[in-house]
Amino acid sequence: MLSKLLRKRQPVVTSDLTKRKELAQIEQLPSHIAIIMDGNGRWAKNRSLPRIAGHYEGMQTVRKITRFANDVGIETLTLYAFSTENWKRPKKEVDYLMRLPEEFMGTYLPELIEQNVQVQMMGNIDLLPDHTKRAITKAVEKTSHNDGLILNFALNYGSRDEIIQSVQQIVNKVQLGTISCDDITEELISSHLMTKDLTEPDLLIRTSGEIRLSNFMLWQLAYTEFWFTDTLWPDFDEPCLMDAIESYQKRNRKYGGLKEEDVEEK
Ligand code: FPP
Repeated sequence: MLSKLLRKRQPVVTSDLTKRKELAQIEQLPSHIAIIMDGNGRWAKNRSLPRIAGHYEGMQTVRKITRFANDVGIETLTLYAFSTENWKRPKKEVDYLMRLPEEFMGTYLPELIEQNVQVQMMGNIDLLPDHTKRAITKAVEKTSHNDGLILNFALNYGSRDEIIQSVQQIVNKVQLGTISCDDITEELISSHLMTKDLTEPDLLIRTSGEIRLSNFMLWQLAYTEFWFTDTLWPDFDEPCLMDAIESYQKRNRKYGGLKEEDVEEK
């Protein structure tokens, strides 16, 4: 059993963390955090374990970070769980990754419901195996009445794919005469993306030292604050998330404009 191969780790919830959490809640919290969960394979390799052991441990991190983000008061947590490019991986690894939503929901759906978490998914669900689709659909349905943290899994998601689909829908409407070319605005494009019902991410986190976007939310991240860490995803924990949030709170978000105090002439 894979879980037996893995060392049981205690949750790091110290009084220091509680204090940091309370302080963070006074300041401007990021409402939407998106995470590129990277480094599962290296985590496993460092321990001479198969890559899938890293994904299993990564799933435990998803549970831990979901619970903590909800507790802190984050409104939306988007997690990049499987990209449209990840199909290129060996079949054994892809099959395992496709089993994880089932394993995760099978084990943790009751606690997600209890924590008032709403599960959502973005990506091309049609191309997922039936068992993966079923697990996700069930979780989305069973949590649809919750109004706590939105836990949005990006599964078989690719930003270019998303943009292509949105352009096709818009062109179709123009051809039908429902809208004209002049109606194409930022808002219209946003309303045809898979994130149409979500706010744009305030903070993007990528773990494992890689500094790239890997086809993730290219449109939505236009004004997002980025935070990179060398920590591998299975090692990412509550204090790491607090580091990212505290860094975000020190940023000066200007959206291309100026802060009131920096305007020289009015
Ligand atoms: C990238 O790390 C990670 C993935 C492609 C999979 C991420 C999936 C999880 C963390 C689990 C998801 C859980 C649920 C519930 C769906 P990598 O394998 O590319 O790492 P490496 O760069 O070190 O090889």
